[in-house]
Amino acid sequence: MRRIIFLGPPGAGKGTQAVELAKARGLLHLSTGDLLRAAVQAKTPLGVEADRYMREGALVPDDLVIRMIAERLRSPDAQHGFLFDGFPRTIAQADALAKITPVDHVLFFEIPEQALMERLTQRRVCPVCGTVYNLTTNPPKRHGICDREGATLVQRNDDHPDAVRTRLKAYADKTRPLLEYYGSRGQLRSIDATGSPAEVAERIRAAIP
Ligand code: AP5
Repeated sequence: MRRIIFLGPPGAGKGTQAVELAKARGLLHLSTGDLLRAAVQAKTPLGVEADRYMREGALVPDDLVIRMIAERLRSPDAQHGFLFDGFPRTIAQADALAKITPVDHVLFFEIPEQALMERLTQRRVCPVCGTVYNLTTNPPKRHGICDREGATLVQRNDDHPDAVRTRLKAYADKTRPLLEYYGSRGQLRSIDATGSPAEVAERIRAAIP
């Protein structure tokens, strides 16, 4: 049973790598961004509340996110290990998680900030299957069309430059302090998140054998 956290700024490639690693290791992939976007789309009370923050690129309040995660971790498919992608993102969330379960590895995706704006504004997503593309680094075979579903790709509404700037600031103010939090507990490992997705995947395999 492995319990892993992927930590890093928006656009560092956490989601791209989490999908592959979770599949390879049989872990439940828990992306708070994906869970919140599903709630927004379903217009649940949580989704309606979260939407106000997400559109602007601000973090959703801790109590909402913690409640959502605590509930998700109680389900049977979370009992064989999990990989958190985008959680925890504040000290309060890390403290809450520590009360629910221990974690085995915290992997920090290290990447210069200049690379992030480019990756995020060029990201496109399939609205049907959720596959993530990049117009520059990982384009679909046909421009603007998902390789798997044939659906027209969309841009996330927080991938516009203004929202990206807010997300980078939220990361610097609220999430970056987690490096010290997990570092001082001896749990943090860093990987170089530049280079191709295959190169990054190889570094992750080496860091978490
Ligand atoms: P969330 O969905 O978690 O977004 P994020 O953390 O900003 O992360 P991203 O999905 O933007 O980036 P990523 O690192 O996964 O990169 P990806 O692999 O897609 O959160 C969205 C919002 O939800 C937040 O702003 C907040 O409002 C709310 N929220 C979520 N969790 C929360 C929490 N815990 N507390 C409070 N609020 C929360 O890659 C990016 C692009 O780069 C893609 O196009 C990809 O194809 C490309 N790419 C990936 N790897 C490479 C590579 N090696 N080389 C070149 N291109 C690459």
